[in-house]
Amino acid sequence: MSQNKPHKQSNSSNDSVPVITVDGPSGSGKGTLCQKLADQLGWKLLDSGALYRLVGYIADKKGVTDPAGIADQALRLDIEFVTDSSTGELRSILEGRDVTRDIRTENCGDLASRVAALPEVRAALLERQRAFCEMPGLIADGRDMGTVVFPTAPLKIFLDADAEERANRRYNQLKEKGFDASLAKILDEIRERDARDLQRSSSPLAIAEDALVIDSSAMSIDEVFNTVLKAAAPLI
Ligand code: C5P
Repeated sequence: MSQNKPHKQSNSSNDSVPVITVDGPSGSGKGTLCQKLADQLGWKLLDSGALYRLVGYIADKKGVTDPAGIADQALRLDIEFVTDSSTGELRSILEGRDVTRDIRTENCGDLASRVAALPEVRAALLERQRAFCEMPGLIADGRDMGTVVFPTAPLKIFLDADAEERANRRYNQLKEKGFDASLAKILDEIRERDARDLQRSSSPLAIAEDALVIDSSAMSIDEVFNTVLKAAAPLI
């Protein structure tokens, strides 16, 4: 995976807010790790993948296919993230409707990765993502959090895992949630999505030069969590 050159630009106007960025490929465990970190630290959580999923979802529903039209949907996205009081999970409310489950399907992941390859869409979502940067701190989950969206974040994690292991985890997750799933199909889709994320010209998935790289293939979520907490100690 390529290493990105350090960026000199700022995160936004909000450099005093501590940010931990967590980037990595699909299924590396970023979502679970970020939720645990946000719960433990009482910090805000940005699930940037959910934003791309929502754009893919709404563009598909409205039949918008041209890049400028999709970027316009991204700019005007009427979305609210609400924390579920019983599970602590973030729920996505799009135009007043709870679409949390609709955007978690493999099909929506695929739509997301297609719209995410459009530079216009990435530009349209940039400020919306930076607006999540609020005290006491932010956990930012995505592909370009440490390289593009929050380049001056004091702690950047790149969470990786073998494609086979990621497919297994995704398969078990979907089964647990009651979705129908095929392991072989998930592995194919993960490889295809990896290729698209790595090869796109606009903000490809890349390791920030100052990132702490963690290969979680043979690690439990608790081991990953404790490694990151130790690295975050100076910030908390
Ligand atoms: O992380 P998640 O699987 O929800 O993301 C869905 C898709 O959105 C990814 O496959 C990726 O193509 C895209 N994405 C992105 N940049 C981000 C977050 C997600 O390109 N910061």
